[in-house]
Amino acid sequence: MERVAIFVLLLVTLPIQKIYTAEIDIISDLQFLTENDTLVSSARTFELGFFKPGSSGNSYLGIWYKKISVKTVVWVANRDLPLSVGSSGVLKIVHPGSLVLMSNNGIMWSSNTTSSGNAIAKLDDMGNLVMMTDGDNKNIIWQSFDYPTDTLLPGMKLGRDLLTGREQRLSSWKSSEDPAPGEFTDSTDTHGYPQYVLKQGADKIKFRVGPWNGMGFSGDSTFGRNNIFTYNMVINETMVAYTYDLINSSVVSRLTLISSGELQRSVWVEDATNWQLVVRFPRDICDLYNICGAYGSCSTVKTQRCSCLDEPKFVPRNSKGWEDADWSGGCMRRTSLEL
Ligand SMILES: *[C@@H]1O[C@H](CO)[C@@H](O)[C@H](O)[C@H]1NC(C)=O
Ligand SMILES: *[C@@H]1O[C@H](CO)[C@@H](O)[C@H](O)[C@H]1NC(C)=O
Ligand SMILES: *[C@@H]1O[C@H](CO)[C@@H](O)[C@H](O)[C@H]1NC(C)=O
Ligand SMILES: *[C@@H]1O[C@H](CO)[C@@H](O)[C@H](O)[C@H]1NC(C)=O
Repeated sequence: MERVAIFVLLLVTLPIQKIYTAEIDIISDLQFLTENDTLVSSARTFELGFFKPGSSGNSYLGIWYKKISVKTVVWVANRDLPLSVGSSGVLKIVHPGSLVLMSNNGIMWSSNTTSSGNAIAKLDDMGNLVMMTDGDNKNIIWQSFDYPTDTLLPGMKLGRDLLTGREQRLSSWKSSEDPAPGEFTDSTDTHGYPQYVLKQGADKIKFRVGPWNGMGFSGDSTFGRNNIFTYNMVINETMVAYTYDLINSSVVSRLTLISSGELQRSVWVEDATNWQLVVRFPRDICDLYNICGAYGSCSTVKTQRCSCLDEPKFVPRNSKGWEDADWSGGCMRRTSLEL
């Protein structure tokens, strides 16, 4: 009699439970993630699930902070291919060893990996979604930290894997409502001495810090020195990458390349329930890469920002443009050097 009662109870409660959001801690062969579920890290710092930015109704698979009250997405899987209104998605592991986001319109995103044997996926407390082999050796098959979106979390790397040639870089969202890759990217230039480069489009350098001199970025004392985080450039046979760690691990801080092309470091202030901007790059117009061109010098106090370094000897290359605030031509000598 008692058994029958439990059986009946199960029948009644199971379908009801599925309607409400369920938290799961692992994706495996037996367990997948639907639109109503979230995957939560063990200390409940991060959460993975579906979110709808803005008013479009489009839905994306992403990772956000679990602990803070303002939903702040730090990683997105299907950036270019949202689930449209009415279609539902499922994140599951597909043999052999691929993490796949499926919808009624087909595959929306895939880790494109393979593995022999079973795999599981977990979200760790750093905010890293990790798929690994499900055996005694938990070999990593794929991890979201290797594929940043617009945010660098503590412990992530921005640089290049020298074995595979793969680059980890940040790319801005198109707008605050559209996580598709926007105009700006942030990367570590690993040709020669590593330097930190913010680009607009494929070629236009907007801001640069460096080169790295082994201790810090030369020419910039404010990029890293502070009491929130420590940073480092990992340089060895397998990688060249910028990385940072929090001095106090209870502090919530992120580095984000926002859609207007500014790199912002912010810290979560619980009492004020908002993100406090700590520093932004470029800090001002004079921080823009090569703003005054060759032999030019920049001032944030003068209205005419750029002037030639040595005015008795140098003049603007393009004097008309110079007056109209196009300083890109830089300066040239009044009289050419006698060689
Ligand atoms: C998710 O929940 C909604 C309503 O709460 C329900 O209509 C939908 O079928 C659920 N989806 C899945 C995959 O369980
Ligand atoms: C997986 O492969 C498809 C097809 O080649 C590609 O479009 C997609 O960007 C790849 N996904 C990832 C996460 O690299
Ligand atoms: C290079 O540095 C990374 C990060 O510290 C480390 O995981 C890796 O094992 C190092 N590789 C070598 C060859 O030392
Ligand atoms: C670390 O940060 C937490 C939260 O802001 C704070 O309560 C704590 O006092 C800090 N610890 C240290 C050693 O500064």
